[in-house]
Amino acid sequence: MRLVLLGAPGSGKGTQAARLKEHLQVPHVSTGDLLRAEVAAQSPLGLEAREVMARGELVSDAILLGMLEDRFSRPDTRGGFILDGYPRNLAQADAMGHLLDRIGQPMDHAVFLDVPTELLVERIAGRAQAEGRADDSPEAVRTRLKIYNDSTAPVVDYYRQHGQLKVVHGVGSLDDVFTRIVETIAPVPEVG
Ligand code: AP5
Repeated sequence: MRLVLLGAPGSGKGTQAARLKEHLQVPHVSTGDLLRAEVAAQSPLGLEAREVMARGELVSDAILLGMLEDRFSRPDTRGGFILDGYPRNLAQADAMGHLLDRIGQPMDHAVFLDVPTELLVERIAGRAQAEGRADDSPEAVRTRLKIYNDSTAPVVDYYRQHGQLKVVHGVGSLDDVFTRIVETIAPVPEVG
């Protein structure tokens, strides 16, 4: 199963990807987590990305593509993956299409977690108190939501136009949302 999870900041991509990883037994590839690991390690890439991320802006397409190519070159992704946080603009969608073609791993589904903006803000505010992520400050959240609307929402339309989009209602308990995703991606049983 090769799955791409789409959704605004706070829509539950990371939360549901962690559950899907267990359910599908494929790795969870989160570009946000990969970047946060670089920041924590104070690598050159992390030092370059840190301020950009704290402001809630997007890290450069070139850095992201390099990171993704590196991650997909590892053998654990050969049996499938759940990709969370990428693509975030149309250029990344295009680059990912070429990358997956090149490694012979076509995407099965792009699952969009649909959550109203008021709830996104509420969820992120809750996490800001609990975890203190640098980009959960009110100002960075405003930037993240604006970038999402300007750059990432068109990616959702892109997959819709290509007939690959599955829309999942992302409001409800973690279990409810998980069940909806699993039902959405389950193969339709053959009749007869
Ligand atoms: P990234 O880590 O991808 O952050 P994000 O997209 O802003 O997403 P979040 O982690 O905030 O939300 P989520 O949808 O994963 O929700 P979560 O499950 O955590 O990216 C961070 C930064 O890295 C970017 O801003 C950018 O700078 C950089 N970056 C990453 N990818 C990039 C790319 N491709 N190109 C360029 N730059 C890139 O849930 C949120 C909260 O809600 C949690 O507290 C959770 O417990 C709660 N929650 C979840 N589901 C529910 C529910 N059903 N009910 C109640 N609460 C819920």
